[in-house]
Amino acid sequence: MSVQSAIRRKTAPDIRARKGGDPIVMLTSYHAHTASLVDRYCDVILVGDSLGNVMHGFETTVPVTLDMMILQGRAVMRGSEQALVVVDMPFGSYEASKEQAFHSAVRIMKESLCGAVKLEGGVKMAETIRFLSERGVPVMGHIGLTPQSINTLGSFRAQGREEGSWEPIEADARAVSEAGAFSVVIEAVAEPLGRKITEQIAIPTIGIGASAACDGQVLVLEDMLGLSPRAPKFVKRYGNLGPGIEAAIKDYADEVRSRAFPGPEHVYGMKPKG
Ligand code: KIV
Repeated sequence: MSVQSAIRRKTAPDIRARKGGDPIVMLTSYHAHTASLVDRYCDVILVGDSLGNVMHGFETTVPVTLDMMILQGRAVMRGSEQALVVVDMPFGSYEASKEQAFHSAVRIMKESLCGAVKLEGGVKMAETIRFLSERGVPVMGHIGLTPQSINTLGSFRAQGREEGSWEPIEADARAVSEAGAFSVVIEAVAEPLGRKITEQIAIPTIGIGASAACDGQVLVLEDMLGLSPRAPKFVKRYGNLGPGIEAAIKDYADEVRSRAFPGPEHVYGMKPKG
C-alpha cells in the first residue's frame, strides 16, 4: 500500500510557473511548530541562514554551518505539508567550487528532505547554479544585498540607490535566470530597479525590501511578528508579539514567586491540605 500523503507539496517547477501570475507568498521558519502555521498560508517556507541572527544571536550570518541548516531544515519539513521548503546554503559551503556546492546541496537535500536550496550571488555564481540545476538540485538565487558578503560590503546598505549603479544588479539577475535558477530573491533594492528586473527576467522575483512590483515577497517571520530586537527599516510589522511574550513570562514568574499559580487538584481531584 502506498504511504504517499494525500496533500501534494509544492515543487520548484510549480513556483517557477508562477512568473507574472498570483504573487508568491514566502516567509522564513526554523522550527516545526512555526512551520505548521506558516504552511497554512505560504507557498514557500525559507529556512534562512538568518537563523544565525534570530535563533543564535550572531551579528551576521557568517558563522552559520551546514549542520545548523540541515537540523532546522529537517524540523521545518516535519512541521509542514504543502509549502515548498527552501534551505539556505550557508557561507563557506558553496563558493569554493561547483563541486563543493553540489556536495553541500546534496547533503542538505538528502538529510533535510527539503525541495530546493538558495545561494547568494549573481554573475559569479552562475556556473555553479547551472551545475546544480542540471544535476537535480533546484536553486533559488539571491541578489542585491547579499548578507553573507557583509565583511567585504562593510554594511547592510540598500543596493542600487542611484540609477547609475543598476547595471551590475541587472546583470546578476539575468545571469541567475539564464543559469537555470527557478526563482530569485532580490534584497534591498529601490522599487524602480525591482520592477525593471521583474519585467526583464523569465523567472519569478521574490522581493525583500524590493517592492510589490516583484512576483512575490519574503520576510523573516520574527521581524514581521515584532519579535526581533532589530529589524530592517523596510519591514512592516504585522504583529507586536515581543511585549505580549514578556508580559506572560513576568506573570508566570510573579505567580511562582508568590506560590499563587494553580495546583494540579483540578486534574487529580484532590484538594490541597489546610
Ligand atoms: O536568511 C534569510 O532569512 C534570507 C532572507 C532574508 C531572504 O535569506
